[in-house]
Amino acid sequence: MRILFASAEVYPFSKTGGLADVAGALPKALVAAGHEVLVVSPWYRTLQADPAPLWIGDVDVPFDGGFEPVGVGTLEVDGVRFAFVGHASFQRDALYGFADDVQRFARFTRAIAPAAHRVGFMPDVVHAHDWHAAYLPLILRHGWHLPDGWPGMPSVYTIHNLQHQGVSPLEATVHWLRLPRSALETGMQHFGSANAMQAGLDLATRVTTVSPTYAEEIQRPEFGFGLDGTLRHVAWKLRGIVNGIDETVWNPSTDPWLPAPFDVGDLSGKAVARTALLEELGLRDGGPVLAAVSRFAEQKGIDLLLDAADDLVGEGWRLALLGSGEAALETSAMALAARHPGQVAVRLGYDEPLAHRIYGGADAFAIPSRFEPCGLTQMIAMRYGTIPIARATGGLADTIRPGVTGFLFADAQPGALHAAAREAKASFDDDEVLGMRQAGMRTSFDWSKSAEAYVQVYRDAVAG
Ligand code: ADP
Ligand code: GLC
Repeated sequence: MRILFASAEVYPFSKTGGLADVAGALPKALVAAGHEVLVVSPWYRTLQADPAPLWIGDVDVPFDGGFEPVGVGTLEVDGVRFAFVGHASFQRDALYGFADDVQRFARFTRAIAPAAHRVGFMPDVVHAHDWHAAYLPLILRHGWHLPDGWPGMPSVYTIHNLQHQGVSPLEATVHWLRLPRSALETGMQHFGSANAMQAGLDLATRVTTVSPTYAEEIQRPEFGFGLDGTLRHVAWKLRGIVNGIDETVWNPSTDPWLPAPFDVGDLSGKAVARTALLEELGLRDGGPVLAAVSRFAEQKGIDLLLDAADDLVGEGWRLALLGSGEAALETSAMALAARHPGQVAVRLGYDEPLAHRIYGGADAFAIPSRFEPCGLTQMIAMRYGTIPIARATGGLADTIRPGVTGFLFADAQPGALHAAAREAKASFDDDEVLGMRQAGMRTSFDWSKSAEAYVQVYRDAVAG
């Protein structure tokens, strides 16, 4: 099949989180299974690629009442084709977080069909990811100004995170997207505003999310962020498919960022990675290292970890945190490190090499998420022999086998995390932990099975 991926980020070009990993890895798995994939994504100012994309000129994008020129850059890596969309609104110092984000990504979404047409790619199905690309199914169904063969094209829409929906004023959004006024009567409206996520859910031929448990959870008000009613309504076309990880990127036996390689048969390189990590972070040995690599956001429950941290340190844990996000969480993480020099290390920011060294050198990995559509860090941790201690929600519940490959706790409370960490610590103390590390390392998280499941969904979408 010919599949077009529309994603606001794609590893290794752009990344703020797991969406980039998925948009980078799933196309490779689809190509390996014999399919053709074109990934369309914005070209941000911060990106670098070697070789650089070949900029082949502008296309005219129907936008904001007229046509706007947008640059198209092409590249092919590992058999996956890329079309990057270049526009001044992507030339900023971050991917997101601006007042005009919905307008920026509406432009991106409108540029997808002309860009694909320009590079000669006619998909059988488009696969749009998260709110940024969520108007694509609507445009394919009801949009004007599409290349020949595009109107009515089947679409699959994947929810990576229901919290971010792309909400904007209704009339303005219809105008930006150059939709007919009748679009106002489609599923793009939610409580009087335009809502990209709601449009994607309503108008895509098929909808998926990134784990079976999250597919169930989001149909309930506690997890639905106001769209649980819509999700119950579209449940017939909704399916949860768990993410994989790219086992060529995340492989402790070949990882160029680790001080020594290791694998399930010989963990001596993990001990080297651990010693190097303690030294790099200025931590004194004396207890197991509990790490987190995470966005500092309410979703991730970093506050629960910070609230439990004094007790954890008191029981001998060393903490290593890497992440950034909400200012209040950053401040309290820094205060925690200041209270426990040599026992707690916090690095604020986004640091890919350090993330690899932490996965490699830590003993355990905390993921106390309030909700977690899939989560990749627990799978990466397990692959590196690092034991996840996580909340039993979403994809965490679907990928961690409690007592076998990790520890799960139910309540979003510091005490529940603390209790699970105690249980984990006991297994470190009696050395049961080696079998657990090995069970995690032996678990396959590669994409091939989930890629097959997506192909089935693409076929269903094409069948209508
Ligand atoms: P989410 O997409 O919700 O942030 P995931 O677990 O799906 O969560 O994916 C997070 C990805 O981002 C992982 O690849 C993780 O290693 C990476 N990551 C998160 N924070 C950082 C950071 N501060 N530095 C480097 N990598 C990070
Ligand atoms: C989102 C979710 C995360 C998921 C990722 C990739 O960012 O928060 O749980 O793993 O998307 O699907």
